[in-house]
Amino acid sequence: MTPENSKTQSRSAELREQVAVLDAELTEDFKAQFSVSPFLSRKIVSFQGNKDKPAYSWYKYKEAFSVPLVEYFLSSYDGQISEKVLDPFAGIGTTLFAASSQGIPADGIELLPIGQEIIHARLLSEREMSSDDLATLEHWITSFPWNECRERVPFSTIRITENAYPQETVETIERYRGALHEENEKIQTILQFALLCILESISYTRKDGQYLRWDARSGKRRPGTKAFDKGEILPFDAAITAKLKEILSDIRNAETPLTLFPVKQTAKDIRLFKGSCLEILPTLETAAYGAVMTSPPYCNRYDYTRTYALELAMLGLTHTEVSDLRQEMLSCTVENREKDLLKICPQWNPFIEAASQQKLLQAIYAYLEHEKASGNLNNSGIPRMVRGYFSEMACVIGECARVLKPNARLFMVNDNVRYAGVSISVDTILSDVARSLGFEVEKILVVPGKKGNSSQQMGTYGRVPLRKCVYVWRKR
Ligand SMILES: C[S@@+](CC[C@H](N)C(=O)[O-])C[C@H]1O[C@@H](n2cnc3c(N)ncnc32)[C@H](O)[C@@H]1O
Repeated sequence: MTPENSKTQSRSAELREQVAVLDAELTEDFKAQFSVSPFLSRKIVSFQGNKDKPAYSWYKYKEAFSVPLVEYFLSSYDGQISEKVLDPFAGIGTTLFAASSQGIPADGIELLPIGQEIIHARLLSEREMSSDDLATLEHWITSFPWNECRERVPFSTIRITENAYPQETVETIERYRGALHEENEKIQTILQFALLCILESISYTRKDGQYLRWDARSGKRRPGTKAFDKGEILPFDAAITAKLKEILSDIRNAETPLTLFPVKQTAKDIRLFKGSCLEILPTLETAAYGAVMTSPPYCNRYDYTRTYALELAMLGLTHTEVSDLRQEMLSCTVENREKDLLKICPQWNPFIEAASQQKLLQAIYAYLEHEKASGNLNNSGIPRMVRGYFSEMACVIGECARVLKPNARLFMVNDNVRYAGVSISVDTILSDVARSLGFEVEKILVVPGKKGNSSQQMGTYGRVPLRKCVYVWRKR
C-alpha cells in the first residue's frame, strides 16, 4: 500500500468513526422514543397487507402501505381523528381511501401519473358507475369486442420500453385501445386502468427497483447479467378479462354497503393534487389538517420512473417527459440533480438550514464526499442524492408542520439506508430535523425484524441490519 493510500484509508476510518459516534449519541438522545411495536409487521407496513382487499389490490403498487396501518393510526392509536388528513406522497391513495372509508376527509398529492390515474379510476368506479356502465363492462368480459375492432390505436414507447411485449400482444393492445374509444369517458377510464394493471404480466419485463428486468425471450439482456426467465407471460385476452372480472365484482359487492360509512357517501371527500408536493405544499392553507399520514420515497436509489416505465409510456409520456419527471421526484436516485429549493419557495431557508446544520448529517456528508474523492463509491452521484434527499425532506417536514393544526400528528413510514459501509439513520436524523421545525418526537416505532442491505454492500462491509420505522411526531 502506498503512503497516499494508507493516509486515505485512515482518513476514511476516522470519518466513519465520527459518524458512528454521532449516530450513537443521537440514538441515545431518542432512547425514550424508540419502541418495537408488535402491531407493525412487515406485512402491515407494506402492500402485502392489501393483498386480499377489494379495490386496493387491483393494481399491484409494491411501494404502497396497507389499509390496516392507516386505520390503526387514524382510528386506534390515540382515538379517532375526525379532521382532514393529508398525504403529500399519496401513491395509489391508500391513506386517502382508508381515511375516507372511516369518514375522514382526505387530501393527497402525487407526482407520478400512474398513481394519479389509479386514484382517478378508483374514485370513478366507486362514485359514478351506473348499471348501464356495469353492463358494458360485463359485455367486454364476455364478448372480447377488441377482437372485432378494425381500428388500431398504437401506443408510444420510450427507449427503455421498446420491444417490451410479444408482437401479437402489441397488435391486440392496439385493437383494445381502438375499441375502447367507442365507449363513454367513464368506461374508457376503467378499461384503460385495467390495461395498466396487466402490463407487467403480459410483457417481457419484471419490476425490479432500479431497472426493469428483461426476460431472455425478449432478446434483450443487460451486459454482464445472467439470462432471466420471468415465468409465464400471460396472453392478453386471459389477463384483461380476469382483471375486468375482478374490478366488476368488487364494484358490485361495494354497491351493498356493509360498513357504517358507505363508500359512495364518503368518497367525495377525497381530493387529489397532481404534481410535486414541493410545489403544492406551500399553496395549502396553514393549520388546515388534523393529521398527516405518509410514506415518502426512501433514500435508496429506487427509481419510480424506470420501474413504472411501461405504464408511463402507455399513458403517453415521451422520453423527455419521463426524464423531467425523474428530476422532479423527491431526490432518491443518483441521477437527481440538485433542486433550487429557494426558487420553489423563498421562505424555506430555515428548513434547508435545519438539515444542513444537523450534526450527524454533516459527518455523513463529509464521509461520503471523502469516499467519492477516493474513488470508493460505486456511484459518484450518491453524496448529491443523500444531500438532496434530506434538504427536500426538511422542506416537506417544515411545510407539514405549517399545515397541521396544533397538537396534530404526523405519521411517517421510512427505511434507514446504508452507503459505503455507513448506516444512515434516516429515522433519528429526520426526527431531529422535525424537532427543530416545530414537532415533538413522540415515538419512533420500530418494525420488528430488521431489513438487510444490498448484496453488494453485504459483500464489502458485512451485514448490518437496517431499521424500518413509523415516526410519530406531534406538532407543538
Ligand atoms: C412510498 S410511495 C407512497 C405509497 C403510498 N403510501 C401508497 O400507499 O400508495 C412514495 C410516493 O411518493 C411519490 N413522489 C415522489 N416524489 C414526489 C413529489 N415530489 N411529490 C409528490 N409525490 C412524490 C412517488 O411517486 C410514490 O408514489
